[in-house]
Amino acid sequence: MKHLLLVFAALLIAPLAQAQELKEIKLNAPDKTRGSAVMKALSERASSRAMSERELSLQDLSDLLWAAYGVNRPDGRRTAPTAKNDQDIDLYVCLPAGTYLYDARNSLLKPVISGDLRPVLAAGQDFVKHAPVVLLIVSDYSRFKMNDVERSRLWGAMDGGIVSQNINIFCAAVGLVTVPRAYMDQPKLKEILGLSDTQMPVLNNPVGYPATR
Ligand SMILES: Cc1cc2nc3c(=O)[nH]c(=O)nc-3n(C[C@H](O)[C@H](O)[C@H](O)COP(=O)(O)O)c2cc1C
Repeated sequence: MKHLLLVFAALLIAPLAQAQELKEIKLNAPDKTRGSAVMKALSERASSRAMSERELSLQDLSDLLWAAYGVNRPDGRRTAPTAKNDQDIDLYVCLPAGTYLYDARNSLLKPVISGDLRPVLAAGQDFVKHAPVVLLIVSDYSRFKMNDVERSRLWGAMDGGIVSQNINIFCAAVGLVTVPRAYMDQPKLKEILGLSDTQMPVLNNPVGYPATR
């Protein structure tokens, strides 16, 4: 009986279980000249859940990820600051066909798991299931190497919030739509992505082109 239950559980998660059918996606070099000035972007920053299902172009996806958490200096530091520069944040890129990890140093998306993670991220908010991409911000607070879990989690949450705000501002500057979200099925996400106890999903940002009315 226990064996049968295990087989059944494996079948249930099967569509999300085979990353080998996904290939790495090579990202474009970021276009650092695009977007409006920062004051204009700030004045236009607003959460919106009205987005088109249209797939993002590779350039838009590449620029979005670089703005969120790309490497912007030769020493490997990022567009978002992290506490002690411990770079505790990992950015998971959830596309309809599968979820990838953003490898900022090599401008690559590395396959993690195939299948659609958006329903698990949606947690009751239907528009998320149709967003062309959802960026999942995860802090691995063990990278702070502190014996204070509460403080580590706090720093992880702060670092994740900064990455989310980079996404929000980039989207406002280039006419994309996003909203920072704390809702998501955390236990299920951790199980599906095989996250460790110290890897904490902080926020997720669905991103898309504005819905056409
Ligand atoms: C930490 C945080 C968590 C949030 N979680 C959600 C969420 O799960 N779902 C959602 O639709 N909006 C979420 N929001 C968006 C807020 O509802 C939104 O920012 C707020 O209403 C203010 O609107 P504005 O962003 O347009 O200024 C969240 C915002 C923050 C900062």
